[in-house]
Parts: sequence; structure tokens; C-alpha cells
Amino acid sequence: MGIRIEKTEAENFHKLDQIINRYKAQEGMLIRILQKSQEVFGYLPPKVQAYISQEVGIPISTVNGVVSFYSLFSQEPRGKYTIRVCMGTACYVKGAQEILDAVKEEIQIGVGETSMDKLFTLNASRCIGACGLAPVMTINDDVYERLSPADIPSILYGYIKTHKKAKVTH
Ligand code: FES
Repeated sequence: MGIRIEKTEAENFHKLDQIINRYKAQEGMLIRILQKSQEVFGYLPPKVQAYISQEVGIPISTVNGVVSFYSLFSQEPRGKYTIRVCMGTACYVKGAQEILDAVKEEIQIGVGETSMDKLFTLNASRCIGACGLAPVMTINDDVYERLSPADIPSILYGYIKTHKKAKVTH
């Protein structure tokens, strides 16, 4: 079955072709292709997954299984900043639930949701391997450790401020 591509998406699909051609002969190529595709599209909608499946000859169920398994991949549009609160055992016993509740309270969204202004997406993650620093939260590539709920408003405000500044200078 062919996949319908809107004209406005053509450029992104052209980049996707280049990604597929570049990585498809390599070992572990599916994850690599999915990562790079998410950088292009911002997330991995069903259409992109179907296209990758078709082009690399891997069943769509396998592609979707990989996308669903790794929290790094998203099937929904994401905010500019992805917040991941670690809910692994070490973080959980050190109060990860309170951290998660503080984030939800501050930005008024639930786990798996994106704020209306598309600034934040909130996820709960598995252990990220920094258990000694629990409880831990990441925002894109930034890592916040030994958190308390009282730290959350100022951390998030830092991103809101940066975003506003970036908008003014554009
Ligand atoms: S449990 Fe959170 S970093 Fe390991």
C-alpha cells in the first residue's frame, strides 16, 4: 500500500530518504534511523513509521514496537523541552512522585502530555543510570539531581525565560 505524502512534508521526507540510504546497511540501523527521523520531524507519526518500514523492509509491527518501547521516541508532537522525571526504584524511594507532582502542578499537564504553548512535554522515565544522584529529572540534555519539589518552579521558570528571550531576539 502506498503512503500519501502532503506537499509541505516533501522536504522532510526527502531528508528521511537520505537518512535511510545513509544508515540502512549498518548494524542497529533501525534505532539510528528512528533517532535521526525524529530529529527531522520532531516526533514519529504513524506515516513516518510506515514509510521507514516500507523502505527498510522491516514489518511495521516491529518498527512500532521499537518506537513504543523506548521513551526516547515519541508518537505525538512534542514541546520544545521534554521533561523526564525518573521513576526508577532509587528515584522513587527518594521522592520522585513528589517531583512529578510538582512538575504537573507547575505546568498543568499530565504524563505524556504537551503544554498548550508547545513549550513542555512531560514524561516519566525508567532509570537513567544516575541512581546515586536521586531523585533525578532531565530537561532535553540538562540533568537535575537530588531534587526537592521546591526546586521545580525556578528550574522551569529558567526555560520559560530563555524561550521568551529567544522569541524577542528573533
Ligand atoms: S532510579 Fe533514577 S536514576 Fe536510577
